[in-house]
Amino acid sequence: MRSRYAVLAFASAVATLTPALADDVDDAIKARQGYYQVVSHNSGALFAMAKGGIEYDADKALAHAKNLDALANMNNSSMWMPGSSKEDRKGKTRALPVIWTTFPAIGEKGQAFKDATANLVATAGDGIDSLRANVGPLGASCKGCHETYRAKDF
Ligand code: HEC
Repeated sequence: MRSRYAVLAFASAVATLTPALADDVDDAIKARQGYYQVVSHNSGALFAMAKGGIEYDADKALAHAKNLDALANMNNSSMWMPGSSKEDRKGKTRALPVIWTTFPAIGEKGQAFKDATANLVATAGDGIDSLRANVGPLGASCKGCHETYRAKDF
């Protein structure tokens, strides 16, 4: 005969575990969104300098490029916790489930981002023409990943 105590014990274990897990998942989501805000802050400055929206400054351009390269090379695996997709946490994230179902395919997009930032470390401080000639692949790397892995809406 099935014990109803076992069923109750299981139910209460789930009740106490679920909020803790949801917190961890939501922390991971917040961390990666914050991460991309920092990515956006640094890349936005380079795009603005390239377009002439803000004045080119070699030291600042190089600092942004180095920040982006550091960001691109972080080990972010803990931010991509299973159970943290848009399907799992509706309204909280735009990360599409395909990130997890096709993993590690997203790594190719991460590599394009890394290649673009490494190239900018070598070129962004060498004058406005050099920045303009090399910033394109950075923008393409954002777009390339977002097209496949980020939803338009939360
Ligand atoms: C490897 C894939 C990938 C690359 C490369 C990438 N992004 Fe994203 N980005 C994402 C995903 C996935 C999300 C959704 C995260 C979420 O909502 O949990 C996101 C979210 C964002 C957000 C919104 C953050 C928030 O507060 O919700 C911004 C801004 C952003 N990315 C900017 C950029 C810029 C700028 C670049 C390039 C310099 C870039 N991203 C490169 C995958 C990528």
